[in-house]
Amino acid sequence: MKILSEKVAAIAPSATMDIADREKKLVREGKDVISLSIGEPDFDTPAHIKDACCAALGRGETHYAPSSGIPELTRAIADKYRFENHVECTPEQVIATCGAKHAIYEAMEAVINPADEVVIIDPAWVSYEPCVQMAGGRVRHCHVDEHTFQVDDRLAEKITQKTKMIVVNTPCNPSGTVFSRQSLGIVADLCVDYDLIALSDEIYEKLIYGKEHISLATFANMQERTITVNGFSKAYAMTGWRLGYAIAPPAIIRQMVKIQQHGVSHPTTFVMWGGVAALKGDQRCVEDMRREFDLRRQYLLESLPDLGLEAAPMDGAFYAFVRVPGDDVEMARSWLSHAYVAVTPGTAFYAPGWIRLSYATSLPRLREAVDRIRRSQTG
Ligand SMILES: Cc1ncc(COP(=O)(O)O)c(C=O)c1O
Repeated sequence: MKILSEKVAAIAPSATMDIADREKKLVREGKDVISLSIGEPDFDTPAHIKDACCAALGRGETHYAPSSGIPELTRAIADKYRFENHVECTPEQVIATCGAKHAIYEAMEAVINPADEVVIIDPAWVSYEPCVQMAGGRVRHCHVDEHTFQVDDRLAEKITQKTKMIVVNTPCNPSGTVFSRQSLGIVADLCVDYDLIALSDEIYEKLIYGKEHISLATFANMQERTITVNGFSKAYAMTGWRLGYAIAPPAIIRQMVKIQQHGVSHPTTFVMWGGVAALKGDQRCVEDMRREFDLRRQYLLESLPDLGLEAAPMDGAFYAFVRVPGDDVEMARSWLSHAYVAVTPGTAFYAPGWIRLSYATSLPRLREAVDRIRRSQTG
C-alpha cells in the first residue's frame, strides 16, 4: 500500500537539519556550543504584552473567536499599516494567523493552482519553496546580485507564461539585506506588466539599521496584487506565541479565511490580545531590542574582516551572511566540530559558498564565538 502523499514526500527536509542534529549531539555530550544558528530574538517578550495576555485569560477570553482574528487585533493591524507603512487598509483586508509562516502557507494555498510558477529571490528563507510545493506550484529561483544583494534585470528572465507570483523578503533572512526602492520597483513593474501577485514578507521590518523599510504595496497599482505578510515573532520577541498576519485584497483574504477555518480556526484567542497590546502599546521595547542588535551588528562589522570573511550588506534582521572559501556545509561542520560554534550553511538558503551567522545572542557570547573561529583558523 502506498501510504504517503507523493506531494509531501517530494518535499526535501530542511538543509538546516544536519547541522542542527550535530549541534544537539554535541550539547548532549556536554560541549559548550555557541549557537549562531538561531532565528529568534534572545530577549523575553516585553512585560506589558505578557500582562495583556494574562489579563485576557483572567477575564475568560478562552473561547472561539472570529476566523480572521478578534476585531480588536485586525483593526490594530489595519491601523498600523495605514499609519506606519502608508498602505491603505481596512480590517476586511486583514487576517491574523498562527505565525507569519502560516500566513505564507495560507496565501500560497489561496492563490496557487497546480503548475503555477512562483519566483523566489535567492538567497531565500527555507519555507517559501515547501509552501509553494504544498499548494501544488513550482518554484523558479532568481539570484540577487552577489555584491549588492539587490534585485536586477535577471528577475525579468524568470517570468514565464506560468508565473503567478513573486516572493519578496525585505529585510531579508538570511542575507540581512534591505531592498532599495529601485529593487522593489523592478518587482512592482514586473507584477503590474505581467499581471502577477507579490508576496511581500516584511517580518523583519522593525530590525533595520540606517535604512528605510518600504512596503511593496505602496508602489503604484500594487495594493490590489500584494499579499503582505508580517508578524510579532521578531519585532516583539514573540516567537513562541505563534502570531502573525497577512494583508491582502478582500477576495484573497476570504480564501485564506476558509483555509484557516478548516485548519486551525484562528490563532489562540488570549494570544491575540497580546498582539493588540504589542501594536497599541509603547514601542520603546522594540527600539531597545533593535539597539542591542545594532551593537552586536557593529561588533561583527568590525571583527568579520579580521577573520577574512566578507559579509553581505548587514542592513537589517539579525544575520550576517558571509562568503566562505570552499564548501559552506563543510565549513559549518568544521566550525562546529573544532570551535563549537553552530552556524547555518548558505546551501539551506540556495546560496552555496555562504554561511549565515545569527547575532541573536549576547555580545559576550558573540565575542567568544569570533575568538573561537579565529583560533580554529590558526590552530
Ligand atoms: C523571513 C521569515 N518569514 C517568516 C518567518 C516566520 O515567522 P513566524 O514565527 O511569525 O511564523 C520567519 C521565521 O524565521 C522568517 O525568517
